[in-house]
Amino acid sequence: MRRNPYTPGQVPRILAGRAVEMRRIEGLLARVATYGELGGPLLVFHAPRGIGKTSLLRAGQRRAVESGFVTAWVACSRQRPVLPEIAHSVGRALERADAVPSGAAGQRWRGQLERLTVEVGVPGAKVQAQVARRQSTEAPPAPHAAIGVLESLLHDAATAVREHGGAGLLLLLDELHTASPDDMSVLLNTLQNLDGERTENPFAAVAAGLPVTPEALTRAATFGERSTFISLDVLSEIDARAALVAPAEAEGVGWTPAALDAIVAESRGYPYLLQLLGSTTWDAADPAAGARLTLTHVKRGLPVARDQLTAMHRARWGAATRLEQRFLAAMAAAGDANVTRAAIAAGMGVDSRAISVPRERLIEKGVIEPVGHGLVRFTLPGFAAYVRGLDDA
Ligand SMILES: Nc1ncnc2c1ncn2[C@@H]1O[C@H](COP(=O)(O)OP(=O)(O)O)[C@@H](O)[C@H]1O
Ligand SMILES: [Mg+2]
Repeated sequence: MRRNPYTPGQVPRILAGRAVEMRRIEGLLARVATYGELGGPLLVFHAPRGIGKTSLLRAGQRRAVESGFVTAWVACSRQRPVLPEIAHSVGRALERADAVPSGAAGQRWRGQLERLTVEVGVPGAKVQAQVARRQSTEAPPAPHAAIGVLESLLHDAATAVREHGGAGLLLLLDELHTASPDDMSVLLNTLQNLDGERTENPFAAVAAGLPVTPEALTRAATFGERSTFISLDVLSEIDARAALVAPAEAEGVGWTPAALDAIVAESRGYPYLLQLLGSTTWDAADPAAGARLTLTHVKRGLPVARDQLTAMHRARWGAATRLEQRFLAAMAAAGDANVTRAAIAAGMGVDSRAISVPRERLIEKGVIEPVGHGLVRFTLPGFAAYVRGLDDA
C-alpha cells in the first residue's frame, strides 16, 4: 500500500497551477539575482483561507533557494509584534547560510539585531525614550527610529548574502493582515527607503494575507497602495484535475474519469477541498501501485470528508460573536450563492447600515468574502447549509 500523497491543511507536495503567480515571484527574484538590486515593490497575494496563499509562498521560497537566495520566513500573528520576528528570522537565515556579516559590519549587525528584537519589541516606548535622550529637541515619532534600524538591518543582511556569493535576500511574510498598523507602517516605510537606494539592496519581499490586507496596508501608509496586490482565485478546472492526478501519479496510482469528475465538481476548484477529498478517497481505496481510484472510493470517503468540514464549520461558528452569528444566520437563510446587504439586514430586522461592523469583522476573519456590488458569500463550501442546520437542532 502506498502513502497517502494528499495534504489537506498542509503545503502540497505538488503545487498545481499558479503559473502566473509564480512568474510574478520569479520576476522579483530575477531582478535581484541579475542586477543585485531591489526586486520591486512589496508583492502581496490575498485570498480567503484555504485558497493556497501559504502554499504559493512556500513554492516561491523553494524557487528562491534553488536560485541561490537566502530566505527568511515570518508567520505574522496578532500575538507577537512583527518587527522583532523579522529580525529574528533574518538573523537565523543568515546564520544558517553562514553569511553573518563579520568585522565592524558584524558588530553593527549584532547591534541592530539587538535593538530591533529588544526595543522595537516593546512598541514605541523604548525607542522613543532613546531618541528623546539623544536629541533634546522634538523627538521624531517612534516609528522613525524603527524604520532606520530595520532599513539598515535588511540592507546589511542582503549585502552580506551577496558578498558571500548568494543571489540576495528574500523576505516572506505570511498572514500579513495580522500585523499591527504601526508594524505595517514601519515595514512599508522601510521598503520605500530601500527603494530610494534600490541598486544598493539585493532584496525582495513577498507577502500573503486575507482579502483585507490591501486595505490594511493602504491605511497604514498612504503609499501602501504602491505595493503590488494580486488576488488568488480558486483553481481552474484543468489545475484542479492536476492537483488530484499528479500526486497519485507520483505513487503509480491513477483515477477513473468518473471519480475525477465527481471531486472536481464537488470541490469547485477550492484547493483545500481537493486535498481533503483526494485524501479521503485515497484512504478509502488504500491503493497499491498500478491501482485506480474509483467513484466507489470517492463515495466511501465522503462521510469522513463531511465530518472534517463540519468540524471546520463548527469552529468558525464558535469563533463568531453573537452579533456575527445573527449575521451569518440571516445570510445562510438567504441562500448558498452571493447575498445582498439588503437581504442580510432584512433577515436581521435592522437597517442595512447597521450591519457594517459584523460584515467587516467576518470578512477580516475570512469567513465571508466580498464579491463586488456589496454582495458577500461564504468562503467555506457547505457553511450555509451547516448554519441552516443549526436552526433545526
Ligand atoms: N496550487 C495548489 N495545488 C494543490 N494543492 C493546493 C494548492 N494550493 C493550496 N493547496 C492545498 O490547499 C490547502 C490550503 O492551502 P494553504 O496554502 O494553506 O491556503 P491558505 O494559506 O490560503 O489558507 C492545503 O491543503 C494545500 O495543500
Ligand atoms: Mg495560509
